[in-house]
Amino acid sequence: MGELPALVVRAQMAAAEVGMPLTRDGTGPSCCLPGVGRFLAVLAAGCVGGMIGEMGTGVGVGAAWMASAMPADCRLVTVEMDPVRVTAARRVLADESRVEVVQGDSFDELARRAPFDLLFVDGGPSDQVVDLVRIGGRLVFDDVTPVAALPADSPFRTNDPKRDFFLADPRLVATEVVLPDLRNSLMVGTRVQ
Ligand SMILES: C[S@@+](CC[C@H](N)C(=O)[O-])C[C@H]1O[C@@H](n2cnc3c(N)ncnc32)[C@H](O)[C@@H]1O
Repeated sequence: MGELPALVVRAQMAAAEVGMPLTRDGTGPSCCLPGVGRFLAVLAAGCVGGMIGEMGTGVGVGAAWMASAMPADCRLVTVEMDPVRVTAARRVLADESRVEVVQGDSFDELARRAPFDLLFVDGGPSDQVVDLVRIGGRLVFDDVTPVAALPADSPFRTNDPKRDFFLADPRLVATEVVLPDLRNSLMVGTRVQ
């Protein structure tokens, strides 16, 4: 799938330093997977003159993917409540003047800066996030497991809150994107009303 951008490699090294996993091991918050990062980069690259938001910076892996791809006139604001991760992410992104790492509650901070052309929802309350995206803007949720990868008796086969949120909101044209590993997926939607 190609080499990782240098900024992403730097963020992954920061993750190792603070003990934040690069895989979804289920024991706590983890960094976004390369498949998610590449998808975010595809969307970020189209945000000409735009504004990108991220809820839950972690140490900046997703932000590094987006900053590496977004146009020169695009800005990114990412919010994290954990002070150790904020410090690590600011160090990773120190040379990126287009990126602001804010410490605080992700919804409150981004609501003050909305609307966004692209919003990556990866930490914090998600029930009102469609309001933060402009018409035509994109919303991405991480950490969904494809139905085919779930055990036969998993309740998530019929009822996954993230999938349900996306597919039930009439303001979004949405779909699930299964990553190349076939074990993880994300939800993406475009706000149309
Ligand atoms: C899955 S990790 C984020 C990974 C990151 N987006 C990436 O691409 O690597 C979730 C993060 O959200 C943060 N978080 C959870 N609730 C939050 C809130 N209400 N406001 C800000 N950050 C929050 C956690 O501290 C954690 O670092």
